[in-house]
Amino acid sequence: MVWQAILCGVCFSGCIFVPMQKRKKIVVAVTGASGAIYAKCLLDNLQSLGQQIDKVGVVMSDNAKEVWRYELGNEDYNNYHFDFYAKMDFNAPFASGSAKYDTMIIAPCSMGTLGRIAHGISNDLISRAADVILKERRKLIVVARDTPFSLIHLNNMKLITEAGGIICPAIPSFYSLPKTIEEVVQTVIDRVIDLAGLEKDGYRWNEN
Ligand SMILES: Cc1cc2nc3c(=O)[nH]c(=O)nc-3n(C[C@H](O)[C@H](O)[C@H](O)COP(=O)(O)O)c2cc1C
Repeated sequence: MVWQAILCGVCFSGCIFVPMQKRKKIVVAVTGASGAIYAKCLLDNLQSLGQQIDKVGVVMSDNAKEVWRYELGNEDYNNYHFDFYAKMDFNAPFASGSAKYDTMIIAPCSMGTLGRIAHGISNDLISRAADVILKERRKLIVVARDTPFSLIHLNNMKLITEAGGIICPAIPSFYSLPKTIEEVVQTVIDRVIDLAGLEKDGYRWNEN
């Protein structure tokens, strides 16, 4: 347990010790669903929250890179100073529960990857890492993206939810009156950041 001295709210001396939030180890997986901008927004946000984070490991499927190039017109995923792992690299630390990654975020998550995870088909690093997070009872956040959903998709979401994962679909909100695509996307990523237990200022209904 890590302890941190904080100023006492009564006497303003450093007389209270409270547990300090442990810095998080996070896996980010990017798949070939539409919405590469969600991945970009998430990675940008994680970069700015560095003080709360110990490690970010990133894995992208081939289609994720293709969709990013097509939708965003660049290969800027190469510019992030996170630890990137190849899609079949089972030597990545988070391919094992022993590395104790806290949280895995899949954004955006294709229906293919969703199905593989729901059925425990751990045949690449993304599905294996999700399998590990679920078996270790840690936090899996799935930013599922497709429309409409078939019964197969919905049943797979149900299975992942029953296994302890969180389906946080790429469904933006509009009550913060976003003006740009980036602001619309941020409404989803704000929820992801909250679910991951990270602290970040953002729009909160009837508080701003
Ligand atoms: C431009 C583009 C957009 C796509 N959008 C979606 C989508 O929104 N949801 C989805 O499930 N698949 C989508 N796909 C299909 C997936 O990329 C495909 O099923 C792939 O096999 C997913 O593999 P992955 O999960 O390993 O990345 C899209 C493909 C392309 C090329």
